[in-house]
Amino acid sequence: MDQLTSADAPEPVEESGRAVGARLSWAGAAGAGMVAVITGASRGLGAGMAQRLAQRGLRLGLCARAMPPRPAGTDPAAVVVAELDVTDPEAVDAFAATVVERLGPIGLWINNAGVLGPIGPLVEADPAEVARHLAVNVLGVVHGTRTYARHVRSRPGGGVLVTITSGAARTPYEGWAPYCASKAAVDQLSRVVAAEERGSGLRVLALAPGLVDTDMQALIRSTEERRFPAVERFRAAKARGAFNSPAWVADQLLELAFGTAGAGQGLPDGSALPDGSAVVVRIPDEPRRGGAGTEGSGRHR
Ligand SMILES: NC(=O)c1ccc[n+]([C@@H]2O[C@H](COP(=O)([O-])OP(=O)(O)OC[C@H]3O[C@@H](n4cnc5c(N)ncnc54)[C@H](OP(=O)(O)O)[C@@H]3O)[C@@H](O)[C@H]2O)c1
Repeated sequence: MDQLTSADAPEPVEESGRAVGARLSWAGAAGAGMVAVITGASRGLGAGMAQRLAQRGLRLGLCARAMPPRPAGTDPAAVVVAELDVTDPEAVDAFAATVVERLGPIGLWINNAGVLGPIGPLVEADPAEVARHLAVNVLGVVHGTRTYARHVRSRPGGGVLVTITSGAARTPYEGWAPYCASKAAVDQLSRVVAAEERGSGLRVLALAPGLVDTDMQALIRSTEERRFPAVERFRAAKARGAFNSPAWVADQLLELAFGTAGAGQGLPDGSALPDGSAVVVRIPDEPRRGGAGTEGSGRHR
């Protein structure tokens, strides 16, 4: 398994200019064999991150409404998979308990499950679809966060909670009112929980992954301009291949989560903690990426 070392890692740099002090170190509590949970791991970014974390020696709890695939080359005993809907708090709790029972304490929890639609002007939206969106993107994160924070409080060793956010939390895209609102909500939720749980050993991050070429991106590109006026920028990003790979996102996430690098940029209002460490962070663009001008162009994507 490859390990992050101090030689790989530039000094942590956050918006506040202060280094992030991690409670866990990768080589110590969080290294080989650490248990990580990823919600929304049946496809897209979640499945791709699962593959990369497995390659790096983590043991995994994976869930989604459809059964997540086991990452290629993994020991079946090192992966727990389950079908569940993150809007069901009891199902999320039961899944966490099963992961702990079969694999041991969870060192990293990634709230990744999310939806984009309904897309289009809010005045045309079906209230039931908006409610369903908020149930997945906001309440799903609430449930995962509560479950994991209670787990971390229940045993020594601390842990890292990552919620996958989006530049849409900060950039008001016409046609994405529920999505922009739900991602803004989980950013602020993350800041609050980071402050509330700082004494319990839980580190909280909301990471914006940049553009990743998943079903969600395909849905964006297929949307008519009337419903989503910025669609051409996403089609252009596809033409340039301007994406972050899930493996890149996973590697950056590990570095940010375990404090071995400061590759991401803390966002201007991301410094909610008294020690000045950022909670909301944009993962940097993968070096081979074809340029800017995509989701929430600029550093706030
Ligand atoms: N792709 C991008 O460029 C991009 C950019 C910024 C942020 N993000 C964020 O990254 C995350 C992953 O997005 P993606 O692009 O990988 O999307 P995706 O390809 O549509 O995959 C979404 C995943 O979430 C799961 N999911 C959806 N609703 C769920 C529910 N109620 N309960 C459990 N799992 C559920 C889906 O599985 P099932 O359908 O089987 O349940 C699937 O595994 C999302 O939070 C998204 O907002 C993506």
